[in-house]
Amino acid sequence: MRSFPIAFSMMLVHSLVFLSFINLATAHPYSFNHFRHLLASRYEPTHTTKYPIPAKAKASSVSAGPVSPCTGVHCANPTLLPSSLPCDAANGTTFVTALPNGTKYTMICDIDFPAQHIYPFILAGSFDECLGQCETYNEKAMAGTSCAGFVFAPDRTNGADDCYLKSSLHDPSSATIHLVGATIMPSTASRALPSTSSSLPTPRSNLRKTYSEVNVGNLKILGSSTNKPTNQYVSHVPATPQKLASSLLVPGLNPDLITKYPIADDTGSWTEGQLPSGVTLSNMKAAPRMSRDGGKGGTINETHIFVFCDTASFSEDQGMVGFVSSSVATDDGMKALYGEPLELVDNLGEWQDDVGRMRGFAPMTTGEESFNIDLSGRGYRYAVWPESSVIPFNASHALLYPALVYDVVDMSNQAAVFNDIGNTILLVSVDPTYGPTAERVVPQLYNQDQVTFGTLGGIRSWGPAGKGGNDGHIYLFGKGDNGVLVARTVPNGFTDLSTYEYWNGDSYTEDMPSSSSNAVMLDMQVQDLDVVYVPAIRSFLMIYLNTLADNTFYYRHLPLDLDADDQDCDVDNIVKAKWSAEKVLAQIEAPIEGYIYAGGMHAGYFGDDDITNGGSKILITWTEHTGQDAASPESGYAHKSAYVELDLS
Ligand SMILES: *[C@@H]1O[C@H](CO)[C@@H](O)[C@H](O)[C@H]1NC(C)=O
Ligand SMILES: *[C@@H]1O[C@H](CO)[C@@H](O)[C@H](O)[C@H]1NC(C)=O
Ligand SMILES: *[C@@H]1O[C@H](CO)[C@@H](O)[C@H](O)[C@H]1NC(C)=O
Ligand SMILES: *[C@@H]1O[C@H](CO)[C@@H](O)[C@H](O)[C@H]1NC(C)=O
Repeated sequence: MRSFPIAFSMMLVHSLVFLSFINLATAHPYSFNHFRHLLASRYEPTHTTKYPIPAKAKASSVSAGPVSPCTGVHCANPTLLPSSLPCDAANGTTFVTALPNGTKYTMICDIDFPAQHIYPFILAGSFDECLGQCETYNEKAMAGTSCAGFVFAPDRTNGADDCYLKSSLHDPSSATIHLVGATIMPSTASRALPSTSSSLPTPRSNLRKTYSEVNVGNLKILGSSTNKPTNQYVSHVPATPQKLASSLLVPGLNPDLITKYPIADDTGSWTEGQLPSGVTLSNMKAAPRMSRDGGKGGTINETHIFVFCDTASFSEDQGMVGFVSSSVATDDGMKALYGEPLELVDNLGEWQDDVGRMRGFAPMTTGEESFNIDLSGRGYRYAVWPESSVIPFNASHALLYPALVYDVVDMSNQAAVFNDIGNTILLVSVDPTYGPTAERVVPQLYNQDQVTFGTLGGIRSWGPAGKGGNDGHIYLFGKGDNGVLVARTVPNGFTDLSTYEYWNGDSYTEDMPSSSSNAVMLDMQVQDLDVVYVPAIRSFLMIYLNTLADNTFYYRHLPLDLDADDQDCDVDNIVKAKWSAEKVLAQIEAPIEGYIYAGGMHAGYFGDDDITNGGSKILITWTEHTGQDAASPESGYAHKSAYVELDLS
């Protein structure tokens, strides 16, 4: 039995990282280093969005210099704002920001407008800066929302979340902490929201019902999924992994290990077709226990699959027996239909042996495998991380575009650096006996210098053959600096990079954009994203987690009179039509440690009631840290689920 010392320390790394400092992933759920430059570690990861710092408010704490607020006239100097007045004096006064725009605001004090944040929180540092954020937001006129006002919490300690922009001003309520805010006065809030019903195709006659709103009707938290691995495995003589020349087995990124070596045949789940002759099913000594994160997935030919990243398996008496960079499970018993937590089965094809060492879901090259066997104990390894929901391909197959990562751990302090080295493509199907299986159809698709389209997922548009056919386009999302970029390819060419086209703001071209491109579908960074066609509203819906660690699933939709299909030309609306303002789909209770991540919707779970099949139900899943050791029975991670019923009116 091979031992995996590094694997265990990796699990610890994740825990340590979460304990010690802000960790938010724009690129990978686990990769704190990707995020640090964005928020410059200015805030703590433990915040919930709802004013988490307890009310240490003093009613009118701020020193009251007799600054005259500029009431009703343009301020000569917009920094002379009445924010330093005591609450009762400032309340109700008005001021106007500098020309040319001269937006007129009314001060409010200790009033909040619950659940109408545009962003979960902003670090502004002062009332004026918070005002500036509101103004800037409106200048950018993002996605149909506008800043209708804001509240600033002057008593927040340095570096805490202190500024909240508001998309609307309903339900004014007294705040539990001291807040100084300002609302844009209706007379000057002339920047009307762009109507969501402009500029789109003529309605079709068969539209049954017109909707004006998409709201969240019902949210039910289901709880932590349980793992139920099979208790049998395919008994076979273990393969002897290929060992590369020692000159190749040295620390340092070597893309040749990814691109120049064949797939190792002891990696990837078995299928019927690959089984050596004469193998039999035998009993495991004991079902292993799994510890892992990720867990997005989708439906392939009515099987619900869940795909995980780094996965450790533990046996009762031997401790950790295996560590692979991906694994896969299927739903058992459709528990979510009954409002219960999911039960997930790791299938027969996943096991290397009778104690629960795994083959890994995504096949590895012999270069990657040999390197990992030799060097993972010293802190170096290659990983293949499938992070998105599956993208339907045809009636029997789906696609994943996992990130390729070269992971370097400093063994002295367990600090990990995840080097992105592009992505690859998995063609996924379900073997009725052995479970889900993935074919790695290219060694590497995009390289380390390119936007890795597809790692964030995508959406299938069906062509003339209709749903499940082998024509149409495959749309893929990429994380750019300014938001989400879009590429597309065709089903008969998706393994060939030259068939990929990129949205440039006007059309699809062959020019691959750099990550700084502005031709975005969504002008904000996301950790996770799903975009689906929703037959009930004949439009498209997106669900995402932002990069602010706010434990919230958000959604937006395209115009409700879009009258679209999931056919080829209609899917182009995802870049051409205007997405609605952001709304909260589900606010999840902050985990014991860190924040929720790897969040997504599991398309198709609820059958005819599913949002993707004409109904209004959505299964959402995510991973959170339990605060326990990975090796403990509680595991370090929990895969959780909830369902949301949309209210379409
Ligand atoms: C500020 O004015 C609003 C509206 O008039 C009122 O409801 C609120 O109580 C006032 N706040 C304070 C602290 O006086
Ligand atoms: C302010 O005025 C400038 C120039 O007219 C304009 O470009 C900008 O969009 C305006 N900003 C707002 C917030 O109205
Ligand atoms: C789906 O595509 C795969 C890969 O091209 C192919 O092997 C399979 O036969 C297709 N399935 C259907 C139902 O057309
Ligand atoms: C879907 O699964 C069923 C049951 O395993 C199988 O008989 C059928 O051929 C599959 N359909 C496709 C399109 O692969």
